[in-house]
Amino acid sequence: MPYEHLFQPYERGALRTAHRIAMAPLTRNRAKGTIPGALNATYYAQRADAAILVTEGTHPAAVGQGYLDIAGLHNDEQQAGWAKVAGAVHAAGDAKLVIQLMHCGRVAHPFYTGGETPVAPSPIAADGQVFTPEGMLDYVTPREITTDQLADVREDYVQAARRAIAAGAAGVELHAANGYLLHQFLSENTNQRTDGYGTDVAGRIRFPLEVVEAVAAEIGAACVGLRLSPGHEFNDIKEGDTKATYDALLRALAPIDLMYLHVMETQPYAGYSTLEQARELWPGTLIANEGFTEEFDVDGADRLVADGKIDLVAYGRRFLANPDLPTRLRDGAELNTPDQDTFYSGGAKGYVDYPTLAETQAAA
Ligand SMILES: Cc1cc2nc3c(=O)[nH]c(=O)nc-3n(C[C@H](O)[C@H](O)[C@H](O)COP(=O)(O)O)c2cc1C
Repeated sequence: MPYEHLFQPYERGALRTAHRIAMAPLTRNRAKGTIPGALNATYYAQRADAAILVTEGTHPAAVGQGYLDIAGLHNDEQQAGWAKVAGAVHAAGDAKLVIQLMHCGRVAHPFYTGGETPVAPSPIAADGQVFTPEGMLDYVTPREITTDQLADVREDYVQAARRAIAAGAAGVELHAANGYLLHQFLSENTNQRTDGYGTDVAGRIRFPLEVVEAVAAEIGAACVGLRLSPGHEFNDIKEGDTKATYDALLRALAPIDLMYLHVMETQPYAGYSTLEQARELWPGTLIANEGFTEEFDVDGADRLVADGKIDLVAYGRRFLANPDLPTRLRDGAELNTPDQDTFYSGGAKGYVDYPTLAETQAAA
């Protein structure tokens, strides 16, 4: 069998999966009015053979919305939408459905937040623009979250996590990667606070850790994953000392028995292997994802599992274009090619119409 190590079952603590291939979070801008609907349920159900199915970035508060038609999880309608998704996934396969909580922080935009000024660790605008149906708009200068308000932001994550479990998800993935709110706390250029939540590495890791701890206290650490992209400069991030930041963060996380840590291999940015750093300092389940080089192909991931360097691999674009990705890999079948033009728009096209291997064979 090709990729035999990727097809070994995995078990650690409460987490059990039949194989090692997870789906990485993918924003697809198809949750109309921020509420997951039937189309979204179909899309996720098609991918229910993933070991862990991490959803699109989902905002835990209205002020955290940064893009058009991305799902939220801060009101009853959104929760009911996610319950439909969870029901469809459970009916279709064994995937652990994990809702990614993505608070966009300073890269949210008043166009999407109902006019509210986005919030961030410090009032520093991101250099760049965001797509809106009215054209590209500059990021705005965010409002600094006061020390008192930190508890409210933390509570937004807690409440969204509670709603995720109530909706039938297996857990949440806290998005502390790719320049979104929790990453903005970790980075020097976005966090210039002097209230104990900035200034140095210990200060900058403090709020992300508090969010992890608060969410774990609410739904159980075994239901919480965390995503990191050390050094990644997406969304105008300049972290400062990446190695020291993530050494400290990983050491602080180590005693918390999270469901998993999901690390992007950001070596081209960090200047060292962030997967090796995580494996050394993080004792729990390690999921790896990468998108910067061609080397991280399926052979490479199989070898990383074989060598004990990672536990699972998360694929984004391969899963986007191949709803039955595990089956295709197991059978050594060709993969569909992702269509970039429909990544972020297109309705059903480029979303639920990628054929499975069986459908391709039947058509032939
Ligand atoms: C269309 C698209 C949407 C994405 N949306 C998210 C997201 O919502 N949250 C996130 O953490 N990463 C997001 N990413 C990054 C992916 O999770 C992944 O890290 C990246 O695609 C590289 O992995 P791959 O080569 O397997 O696709 C997105 C990537 C793409 C292509």
